[in-house]
Amino acid sequence: TPTPLLVFAGSTRAQSFNRKLAKVAADIGREAGAAVTHIELADFDVPLYNADLEAKGTPRDVVRLKELFFSHPAWVVVSPEYNGSYTGLMKNTIDWVSSPIKGDPNWSSGTKPFAGKVVGMLSASPGALGGLRSLSHLAPLLMNLQCWVSPKQFALSKAGEAFTPEGQLVAEAARENVRGVVEQVLWAARRFGV
Ligand code: FNR
Repeated sequence: TPTPLLVFAGSTRAQSFNRKLAKVAADIGREAGAAVTHIELADFDVPLYNADLEAKGTPRDVVRLKELFFSHPAWVVVSPEYNGSYTGLMKNTIDWVSSPIKGDPNWSSGTKPFAGKVVGMLSASPGALGGLRSLSHLAPLLMNLQCWVSPKQFALSKAGEAFTPEGQLVAEAARENVRGVVEQVLWAARRFGV
């Protein structure tokens, strides 16, 4: 059976390089035989995390996100870099999704949307490092949530020149690097039997 693979980027910008890279990763995942769910965080109405807000009831779109994260054993996370780290959007999404859900009979305190997931990380930036430093922060964040982080990762540098107008990667080597991450995630998910 095909491995369910969740793909998303930590940017909602219209011309986002990370969103473009997520689309490339999703296509590669489908080619590799995964059952890919490619989501856009812009499609989810998620406020800034506040425990008071959550105490009034987890927002509907946060529940949708939790269900998506929980139901996919393998993920590819595409992380933009702001100030040497991941974006506030990325952290806010992870904080909401990781928080134990209250008042929903379908979600017990033992239902952890992150634990045991196999996660591959990609980044893209117009700069020379490709957002690599965001991944060096994202990895321990995910590991703290008990994810298995794929040792293969890829940071796409000079992202402004990296895509064709159709959204394909110009350099075959870059595409092969993305494929390496996606295939390692799918391989590990199969090995782990998650
Ligand atoms: C950036 N950018 C950036 N790039 C980088 O490689 N290292 C960095 O530390 C930063 N810092 C940073 C801070 C802030 C506040 C902004 C708004 C931007 C540039 C960033 O990589 C660029 O805007 C990307 O295009 C953002 O990703 P998306 O939206 O294209 O996916």
